Amino acid sequence: PATGQVDLAVIPGDGIGPEVTAEALKVLEVAAPAELKFAKTQYDLGAERYLATGEVLPDSVLEEIRGQDAILLGAVGGKPNDPNLPPGILERGLLLKLRFELDHYVNLRPSRLFPGSVAPLSDAVLGKGDIDFVVVREGTEGPYTGNGGALRVGTPAEVATEVSVNTAFGVERVIRDAFARAQKRPRKKLTLVHKTNVLVNAGSVWWRLFEEVAKEFPDVTTDYSHIDAVMIYLTTDPQRFDVIVTDNLFGDIVTDLAAAITGGIGLAASGNVNPDRTAPSMFEPVHGSAPDIAGQLIADPTAAILSGALLLDHLGHPEAAASIEAAVLADLESRDPAKQRRTPEVGDAIAARVAG
Ligand code: NAI
Ligand code: MG
Repeated sequence: PATGQVDLAVIPGDGIGPEVTAEALKVLEVAAPAELKFAKTQYDLGAERYLATGEVLPDSVLEEIRGQDAILLGAVGGKPNDPNLPPGILERGLLLKLRFELDHYVNLRPSRLFPGSVAPLSDAVLGKGDIDFVVVREGTEGPYTGNGGALRVGTPAEVATEVSVNTAFGVERVIRDAFARAQKRPRKKLTLVHKTNVLVNAGSVWWRLFEEVAKEFPDVTTDYSHIDAVMIYLTTDPQRFDVIVTDNLFGDIVTDLAAAITGGIGLAASGNVNPDRTAPSMFEPVHGSAPDIAGQLIADPTAAILSGALLLDHLGHPEAAASIEAAVLADLESRDPAKQRRTPEVGDAIAARVAG
């Protein structure tokens, strides 16, 4: 476990990003063990900086961030369809660049239906038992690498390609990480999600390496589902999942539905993890900058706060992480839907519960 000073890069970002990040930091500092001290450096990356200066992620800033121990990110993104902010600028130039450069090959998204949170599933489905699973999404390959291009753009003969990249090295390391995570959980079950019947080339390498690595984890039960069937199971029988491992694109889709069925976007936390610790890992709520509610202090900071718990767990402090989860659980149980609290009030309430 980390002790002493932890250099923490804080990227509050745009919209509600700074609002929820402030609450995540508040809770993080209360929950952290006494021997852990966060030395924070704030980076003003995001839409606002881009619109003001044209800069997305200068190399010097990337190198500074690379030298930190961990990163806490709010959310980046401007108003919808802003002509000055072309699509992909921040996604590719900032978020994906950080994930690729810092080798965040495990995109970790826990999905747990906390009692008291609002779930859109029917009582029949909820009655089957607790929903508590983790998605391990590959973060550095698949169709998101930018391996593609377009020819004859704007003509009837336009050709556009977006090639899915799957290396044996990249697939094996994320599968091994997922097995290790499954092994540490009570149910010890790992489901591979893909579309091996149609995407036969990528499917073959995923399937073979899944089978091979499984031999190293004989106590982990394995399962396989096609991505389309997973859409059905998540709405009819989400209890079947414990740990899911999947590629970058399927993981993106699975995790949005997972967030939706487990209490919504205000609760979904994530970690962009470099398990080899060759660069800092980055923790962030799944939601975006929510320009529609920014500035009103009505955003739910819980997803950002739970991302702080993932950060503490990654730094080797699972008890501190559990104390945040327990506080969130208690807070959710005590929520009164008729009484909307302001963002800092939610943070204060959770911090007070962590403090005991
Ligand atoms: P969004 O997640 O920002 O908002 C979707 C809806 O959920 C909105 O109605 C919003 O008000 C609500 N919402 C989101 N977080 C909430 C919270 N904590 N509490 C209460 N309500 C919440 O997604 P959207 O609108 O598609 O994207 C807005 C901007 O954020 C875009 O520029 C997008 O590119 C960016 N974005 C950034 C992400 C990141 O930084 N990792 C992830 C997703 C989107
Ligand atoms: Mg997404």
